[in-house]
Amino acid sequence: MKHFKIVQIVLFFCLSVQCTAQVDAYQYQAQKKVTVANGAVVSAHPLASKVGLQILKSGGNAVDAAIATQLALAVVYPGAGNIGGGGFMVAHLKNGKNIAIDYREKAPSKASRDMYLDANGNPQMNLSQDGYLACGVPGTVAGIFASMKYASLPFKKLIQPAIDLAENGFVITAGMAEDLNDLKKEFVQLNTSTPAFVKETPWKGGDTLVQEDLANTLKRIRDDGAKGFYEGVTAKLIVEEMEKGNGIISFDDLKKYTAKERAAMEFNYKGYHIVTMPLPSSGGIILEQTLKIIEHRDIAAMKFQTAASVQLMTEAERRSYADRAKYLGDIDFVKVPVATLVSDKYLTARMQDYTPGKAGNSETIKAGTIKESEETTHLSVIDKDGNAVSITTTLNGGYGSRTVVAGAGFLLNNEMDDFSVKPGVPNMYGAVGAEANAIAPGKRMLSSMTPTIVLKNDQPYMVVGTPGGTTIPTSIFQTIVNVIDFGMDAEDAVYKPKFHHQWLPDEIAVEDDFDAATVIALTNMGYHVKKRGPIGRTELILITYGQKKSITAVGDKRGDDDAEGY
Ligand code: GLY
Repeated sequence: MKHFKIVQIVLFFCLSVQCTAQVDAYQYQAQKKVTVANGAVVSAHPLASKVGLQILKSGGNAVDAAIATQLALAVVYPGAGNIGGGGFMVAHLKNGKNIAIDYREKAPSKASRDMYLDANGNPQMNLSQDGYLACGVPGTVAGIFASMKYASLPFKKLIQPAIDLAENGFVITAGMAEDLNDLKKEFVQLNTSTPAFVKETPWKGGDTLVQEDLANTLKRIRDDGAKGFYEGVTAKLIVEEMEKGNGIISFDDLKKYTAKERAAMEFNYKGYHIVTMPLPSSGGIILEQTLKIIEHRDIAAMKFQTAASVQLMTEAERRSYADRAKYLGDIDFVKVPVATLVSDKYLTARMQDYTPGKAGNSETIKAGTIKESEETTHLSVIDKDGNAVSITTTLNGGYGSRTVVAGAGFLLNNEMDDFSVKPGVPNMYGAVGAEANAIAPGKRMLSSMTPTIVLKNDQPYMVVGTPGGTTIPTSIFQTIVNVIDFGMDAEDAVYKPKFHHQWLPDEIAVEDDFDAATVIALTNMGYHVKKRGPIGRTELILITYGQKKSITAVGDKRGDDDAEGY
């Protein structure tokens, strides 16, 4: 990263009685790994991680730090950090309580099952992916206030760093400059007024981005709480924006939006206790199915990314994603046989046609029979007392709908595309769905986000998550197996190449640096193996408890991700 400005402006964040900490928004670098004793934050952007660290250092707990980091990401990482999208929080508190907060977007009340089909029944994917009609009712701000009950610092302290970053500006990375330049045409086409992301001359790393309108929206949230977003001036600006572009989010949709605390999905794997996200994320179910399928097979003996271990994991993924497509949807709207889907009996039956050395086939292996750009972002936090927070949040595609609420300065999501627009028609991630994930007013679209905490002897051992659309659950599956079964350290567990199979398309997608000999062996078994770019951006914290507790936090090398700690 190259920077930058001769004049440096340092933001002082008043975190307690007096200003105690500072983050330099004009001069920073990504730090990929820290090993510390007290607490750590890892996120997609150095400034957001540093904000979280300052909150921890000033006495905040992991929930405080996660809230502040998430709000900072909405400013410094607008491609996925957001207040106009939604997400999930999974937490383990020092008192032993496990928490899952669902703030996934909802379909507006005027949404309907076939709203993205033309008169001939053909899907119009541009409408579910671009602009006004693609937006679900945002959940992030409601989610933040739902999590405030577990915070220890006043909200004003947690949101102030984000306000400062928006108001005073920060220097953008080279990667963000490239994104903004690539999307300039769409930002112009999909907006009725020019957003802060558009400027005459091309952006370059080290340029300063100031977001005044966003700063004012954040101040309304600071002063009026959730009402500062879902009612009053911000709501009026959202609805006015909708009216300019045939969008359907109404005042009532905004006012009625609520986040929901759900029972976390919990299960054991080889003596570890996994705490992850239930529906409307498919991630927890996929993670449990895939881990349970491999649990009684000696994958460690097969060794890391040999054809044998990749085949086993691929066949587990194939079956799980076939089930996702048929059965999974918003549990508040449809019946989902979760207990059966993760039962030993069902999973044993699912693998009966598994033949080591021979590729399965998605035409014959469908869902089981019983009587669900990859831009999202993740942050992991641990504090000195052992509170752990894992948050994945998204606008769906990179920069969401690319529509910014004029006067309010934030991007709206294009999460409606995560519904099944039409049974069997792939969404932007190539995932197909069915009736269970059909659009209905007030319903939450199926997600893949898998914020996860792994406990060992009832204490946080791994705090992990990643963006990556449908590749999210398989990346978390691999990261856990890398640590527990292949004995990797945190860095290798994140950095080693990843692969992904999601039933349809029937192919194993592998990262460019995936082992060439394994590709040949898998091809000889009958698999179609396709190289692709980076899979996800995993943020992992790994805690070991020897004579002294040691916390290692790793930000993925696949982006500007950053790990901070003390
Ligand atoms: N929008 C990506 C997901 O929720 O899975």
